[in-house]
Amino acid sequence: MSQNQVVVGAQWGDEGKGKVVDLLTEQADVIVRFQGGNNAGHTIVVGDKETILHLIPSGILHPDKTCLIGNGVVLDPEVFCRELDNLQGNGVSVGPERLKISHRTHLILPYHKRLDNLREKIRSGGDRIGTTGRGIGPAYEDKVSRVGIRAVDVLDEDLLRSKIAKALAEKNVLCEHYFGESPDTVEEVLQEVLPWTRRLKQHLADVSGEILWARNQGYNILFEGAQGTLLDVDHGTFPYVTSSNTVASNAAAGSGCGMHAIDEVVAVVKAYTTRVGGGPHPTEIEDGAGAHMQEKGAEYGATTGRKRRCGWLDLVCLRDAVRLNTPSRLAITKLDVLGGLSDIWVCTEYEHEGIRLTHPPQKEGGLQEVNPVYTRLDGWQEDISGVRSWVDLPRAAREYIQFIEDSLGVKAGYVSVGPAREQTLIR
Ligand code: IMP
Repeated sequence: MSQNQVVVGAQWGDEGKGKVVDLLTEQADVIVRFQGGNNAGHTIVVGDKETILHLIPSGILHPDKTCLIGNGVVLDPEVFCRELDNLQGNGVSVGPERLKISHRTHLILPYHKRLDNLREKIRSGGDRIGTTGRGIGPAYEDKVSRVGIRAVDVLDEDLLRSKIAKALAEKNVLCEHYFGESPDTVEEVLQEVLPWTRRLKQHLADVSGEILWARNQGYNILFEGAQGTLLDVDHGTFPYVTSSNTVASNAAAGSGCGMHAIDEVVAVVKAYTTRVGGGPHPTEIEDGAGAHMQEKGAEYGATTGRKRRCGWLDLVCLRDAVRLNTPSRLAITKLDVLGGLSDIWVCTEYEHEGIRLTHPPQKEGGLQEVNPVYTRLDGWQEDISGVRSWVDLPRAAREYIQFIEDSLGVKAGYVSVGPAREQTLIR
């Protein structure tokens, strides 16, 4: 029987999913991405070279694993090919027998990136979503408005040309008359994308069929989530969200398997809270402990290099994440970063319009109005990055983890105390 897991982020992304995925990849035969695009990113060291992957699952670095990109992903052909070249340059085999893209995956084309950036440019201050500028939102918009280009379309260049012409018709009106910019021509777009899209052809596959086949063989499948639960387009802090469903249940729809194909959900929780881009972050602290987390945790985005906004752990938002993902285990990351703080504060409830809330308010913008209610816990001064077993953690660090487990009703199966694989306590 295959044992299939989904790994998702429980906060606003950047929880350290890459490390947890890397760890769990050991027991997996097939790794699947099911949502998002190259707005994600993690840094992996191959030999003495550092590789940053935004799109291709990091499982590609293990020669005996197969990597699948599901229908729920939006794929930028240029980014895909550049990652292929980069991996190949590092001696990694990336042949079509082990790296497959669903025919139904939608493509990000140059006009999606252009639109994403033009929109962000005209938004001011608090209205700015702070997108990654990778064209993610506009590509998903085209999918739901049924003018998207799918990976399978690259097999027929006449069809590709006519579909791009259709997609551009409306966008060019926007470009010229709303943004005051020059329109795109079909030929320009084709000239830019054909060298990349032609290389996709050999990687196209029936990903849904591949998953079923792998299950029948008894192979283990790991579904790798991107971004985080609070960035989910339906359940996150709308409108400051990404454009896909980031919750675990989308692993099935976004890859083409049934719900019963999934046995377990692991939710990754950073020991404190970070967010990049705009939107509410109730426990944000700009100096003091926030600066400590920023510096010690090297909190800069892997995709855009932007500074992450840091703050205390927010159990109110995490309660929602647990409800939405039903994890059986948590993976708590970056616990070492909190070392050296004399007090640790945890947000357990919000105060909003005179009442106490255990879950975020429903109304849009409500999260901007809440006052976090904190519980103080003891900090620890020891450097725990060398600790390799639960019992060797300082008492205050163990109590911190136990406080999180008790508050959320989920055990922490993994506690990470540093970036290396061996800096992980498995319980
Ligand atoms: P988009 O996904 O580029 O449209 O950006 C929408 C929002 O999601 C912005 O606030 C981004 O900063 C955020 N976001 C997108 N991908 C990630 C990620 O992988 N980690 C953290 N934040 C992300």
